[in-house]
Amino acid sequence: MSVEFGVDYYPEHWDRSRWETDASLMREMGVDVVRMGEFSWFKLEPDPGNYDFSWLDEAIALLGRHGIKTVVGTPTAAPPRWLVDLDPSILPVDTQGITRGFGGRHHVCHSNRTYRDRSMDIVVAMAEHYRGNPDVVGWQVDNELGNSHENLCTCDSCRSGFHAWLERRYGGIESLNAAWGTGFWSQNYTAFSQIPAPRITPNSHNPSLLLDWRRFCSDLIAGFGRMQVEAIRGRCPGKFVTHNMMGFAEKVDYYDLGASLDFASHDQYPMGYWMSEEEKSPSSLAATLDFIRGVKRRNFWVMEEQAGPAGWETLGRTPGPGQLGLWTAQAVAHGADAVVFFRWRTCTFGTEEFWHGILPHSGVPGRRYAELSRMIARLRPVMREVKGVCREGDVGIVYDYDQCWALRIQPHHPKLSYVSAILRYYAAFFRRNIPVDFLGPDAELKGYKVVVAPLMFVLGGDTEEKLRRYVAEGGALVLTMRTGVKTETDTCRTDGSLPCGLTDVAGVEVLDYDCLRDSDVPVAWVASPSGEDCGTWWSDVLSPRDGAEVLATYGDGFYRGAPAVTVHRYGKGIAYYVGTQPSASLLQKIVDRVSAAAGAGGLAEAEDGVEVACRAGAGADYLFVMNHADGPRRVEVPAAWAPVDGGEGPSIEPYGVRIFKRPRD
Ligand code: GAL
Ligand code: ZN
Repeated sequence: MSVEFGVDYYPEHWDRSRWETDASLMREMGVDVVRMGEFSWFKLEPDPGNYDFSWLDEAIALLGRHGIKTVVGTPTAAPPRWLVDLDPSILPVDTQGITRGFGGRHHVCHSNRTYRDRSMDIVVAMAEHYRGNPDVVGWQVDNELGNSHENLCTCDSCRSGFHAWLERRYGGIESLNAAWGTGFWSQNYTAFSQIPAPRITPNSHNPSLLLDWRRFCSDLIAGFGRMQVEAIRGRCPGKFVTHNMMGFAEKVDYYDLGASLDFASHDQYPMGYWMSEEEKSPSSLAATLDFIRGVKRRNFWVMEEQAGPAGWETLGRTPGPGQLGLWTAQAVAHGADAVVFFRWRTCTFGTEEFWHGILPHSGVPGRRYAELSRMIARLRPVMREVKGVCREGDVGIVYDYDQCWALRIQPHHPKLSYVSAILRYYAAFFRRNIPVDFLGPDAELKGYKVVVAPLMFVLGGDTEEKLRRYVAEGGALVLTMRTGVKTETDTCRTDGSLPCGLTDVAGVEVLDYDCLRDSDVPVAWVASPSGEDCGTWWSDVLSPRDGAEVLATYGDGFYRGAPAVTVHRYGKGIAYYVGTQPSASLLQKIVDRVSAAAGAGGLAEAEDGVEVACRAGAGADYLFVMNHADGPRRVEVPAAWAPVDGGEGPSIEPYGVRIFKRPRD
């Protein structure tokens, strides 16, 4: 049974008499799967230990009769009031020591015994109940683990969990003192039990403590997910288990959380009202999808795709005609094997009553229903041919949570953001329609023509060795400012000039540096200087060695004329060092130079606003041409690609999607 399109459905929000209508309308638009149940703990267990799955059974069966399969969500993201009454200590405590109350969702501490036990009880009961149900194809554990947990939880239970975690990591308290440098400001500990969970202090915490705390929290939450996955997997053979992730959200290391899943899923809200312009750009949306494919190096599901204007108290813009279909195609182009829309019908009550689904409050199908029906019909035949085949690109970008966390703790420049740096490098490849893969710290680099490893701030022996070997064996590596600064316990390295341990590979030493605060520094690209190129956030003043070539120099400051970007041969390969965060124009020059030298080419040439992406299939590859602009744009698709769907000719309409095909060589 093949499923490609679905909706997030909440039958419990509607009168039973409507379910039949919903199912037929879904079927007519091409929906073949629903996700249900992920917030209905109270409905499934109205009193402690008293389970009632009858309504969900009925919904699953009714949808099943219409040919629609179900993904069951475990409801642990929304613990009912009775559970809080049973043990109020399940409520999380924030960094001010304030207990967050009942009333939203995710009002939990993941280390709390009662919460964990009760979660497992219902998960096990559900897994046993649905194990043989032929209409249930798979499971989603919890919902967006780590969402609403930014400063949570610092309760006593989490604090003791942290102590045990630290003891496992460091063995004795003296080695922790040494690893963290607690001698600074008299923070020496004589027992693990003295170590705080990082509540607010008169000023800042030790960065080493903060980094280990983030690692601990990630382990805790990923472990909570894994516990559910294992319980389900042992009981429900033949059904997949997944989890809906949130792109570049930082609370949980998704490589770790993903390890126990059959495949990763993701929630994509391209017009999220909380997102910056950069995050909402077509290239960032593409990067997010590529990152999720990178979590397990395999295709994924979009478990929630925006299906209308969205917001809670305030709303984002309304997607224009064509945009919902465009985003659906974009998800498929980047490796979604199924796309599930959030949500079927707009709820009429509760926090999300303005988070619009495919159907409006009235339940009468309108523009969104018609548009998505059309796109489903167009995409399904292609999806059936490419399902399960994972694309591999020539270019890899390293995404590493340690860097993200350590730079969140010490961003240097107030605006410096690891994710933003990653998105900017990605955008320069995107602009040339060069496919990019995301690589975790453990990923194999061999085979990539280019690897970009931005801001490798915390750099330990293994990763360093891997980067070195990659270049020695013939790869092209891009390193940047703030590489090799810190040890794995987040203290400063002392083994030579920056980039510590990689100076011989990069062929540079950083002699001096400058946090650029409110000023940018002009940079001259030696081969074609232009007024718009500059560096932001930071500049490393470089001293080339071992024959490194200077590609760009600084145009201002006490280091005027000093190298800003260099390239160096090392072994059979080549290493670039970029000493600043380049402006878009400068970054494009760097990326163009790097990709030309490595022979990493774009799929097609297109005007700005048009994205060209390739989805690999078993017998043929598919090319998706997608116009993210609100006006017509030009594109030149190489003749080897035969049009399959969506028209021909050099001009593509606003929010238009075209699909082409080429046999595999
Ligand atoms: C997602 C979440 C959904 C729903 C949606 C709209 O983050 O998984 O349950 O809340 O956002 O807010
Ligand atoms: Zn806690």
